[in-house]
This record gives sequence, structure tokens and C-alpha cells, in this order.
Amino acid sequence: MLETIAGAQVARTPAQVRAWTEKMRVAGKRIALVPTMGALHAGHMTLVAAARHHADVVIVTVFVNPLQFGPKEDFAAYPRPFDKDCALCAQAGVELIYAPTPQTMYPPGFQSHVEVEALTQGLCGAARPTHFRGVTTVVLKLLNIAMADVALFGEKDYQQLQALKRMALDLDHPTQVLGVAIAREPDGLAMSSRNVYLTAAERQAALAIVRSLRAAQAAVRAGERDAAQLAAAMAAAMTAAGGRVDYVAIVDPQSLQPVATVAQPARAIVATWFGRARLLDNADLLP
Ligand code: PAF
Repeated sequence: MLETIAGAQVARTPAQVRAWTEKMRVAGKRIALVPTMGALHAGHMTLVAAARHHADVVIVTVFVNPLQFGPKEDFAAYPRPFDKDCALCAQAGVELIYAPTPQTMYPPGFQSHVEVEALTQGLCGAARPTHFRGVTTVVLKLLNIAMADVALFGEKDYQQLQALKRMALDLDHPTQVLGVAIAREPDGLAMSSRNVYLTAAERQAALAIVRSLRAAQAAVRAGERDAAQLAAAMAAAMTAAGGRVDYVAIVDPQSLQPVATVAQPARAIVATWFGRARLLDNADLLP
């Protein structure tokens, strides 16, 4: 029996999800999967809206995945407003929420993992060495359970998206992995569940991230091609605003390898701390 929470249907086990998706497939419905860690905001809702364009029914998964947090990271503090998440999903017409417990996801004795190699080495992988292994492992499990037609992920986590696309391709998964453009607050800050960690002053200061990306885009339009110059200017602007820059990288959008010259499509990717929030953002420099 599925639970109903705040108007949304909630499955707790893989068997419940499989029984539900089986019914949908027999009824000829296309299925979209939107994996999340909950603490849903308008950014997640753009994923749900995009999912609607690709499918007849939408499953949102809500699972704060312990495997993708390092020992000193914010797993315990990560926000878990589950009833509010259910209400938001019900409002958006999401047909099913899958919210397993950690024990259901990782039963005793669990020891199988998936790794996407080169794509996860640098950028966020440098500071978070076990993070992507946790992401790809949980997402492959979710893809296997739902066997959806499409799965949608935000471009804010650009490295994650590229790794998941690669994983689906390499491992012949039939679900199509799609990216959705970054959802931004009216003032430009990329939406993130971790924005709740920001004080009002930090929230204001963090606008330096999007401003530095826009300045880099403008510099490229004005003819700047030197990736090191562009990255240095971005880092300086964020540091001046009080941010602690983890990295600024200008990379090939597919391989994520650094480029020296912005001569063909390139993406600027940033991770910067403001207060206790490590914020990610990125933008095309040369689309
Ligand atoms: O992007 C996220 O919220 C998570 O990394 C994901 C893809 C839901 C896996 O836990």
C-alpha cells in the first residue's frame, strides 16, 4: 500500500515503485524520473516541469544519500522538510514520490559501487574524493528501480550531470539522462537547497558568483580568450566579496578538461564558500 502524505503518493520500497511503474507502462504511459535529496525549491520544480514535457507521469525521488557526503560534510545538517516536499510535489501534480530509508537503499552487507573515472577526478572531485562514487551509485540504483524513459538533473551540478550521462552511456542504461538549465533567484543567485545556510549578508555577498560569471561572459564577448586571465578575474571578484574560492575552472563542456584558450565551446565552473555554504555555479563562455 502506498502512503499518502500532504496529498502526494509515497512509495518506500523498490517493489512498490516497480509495481507502480509496471501499471504505468501497461497503460502506455511514458515515465520521467527526477532524483533529488529533498528540501525542494523552485529549481527542483523546473525539473518537474521539464519532466512533464518528456513524459506522462513524473516520479520524484527524495533521499539524502549518505554515500555522497564526506565524513566532515553536512549530511546530518542537510535540511529534510519531508512533509513540505510532499506538499510541493502534490501541488505540481507529481504522480509518485519514492522516499526510501537508508537501510532500504543500502541493506547490511552493501558493497557494490559505480565509478565514472576521468570525469570525476578534478573540479568537485578534487575536494570531495568519494562524492561522485556516491552519486553515481545511488542514481544507477534509482534508474534501475524506476526504468523510466527519461531522468532529469539540473545543470547547476554540471560535473554530476556529465558523469551521469557518461554512466548511462557506458553501462547501456535505457533511461535517457537530460540536463535542465540552472534555475536562478530574481537577483541571479543559482537556486540550491544549501542557500538556506546563508545569512542575509552572505546571501548578498554570494551574488559575486553570478556577477563574476557574467563578467567573464562579457569579457569573452569583448575578445578576451585567455582562460587563466578570465579565471583569475573571477576568483579575485569572489574573494573581494568575502568568498573562499574552492576552484574556478574553464573547461571543455564535454570532457571537463581545462582549456588554455577560449577558442571553442567552453564552460566556466565555480565552487566558492560563503559562510558555511559551498555554492556551485557555471555558465557557457562560448556556447
Ligand atoms: O543532485 C542531487 O540532488 C543529488 O546528487 C542526486 C542526483 C539526487 C543524487 O543523490
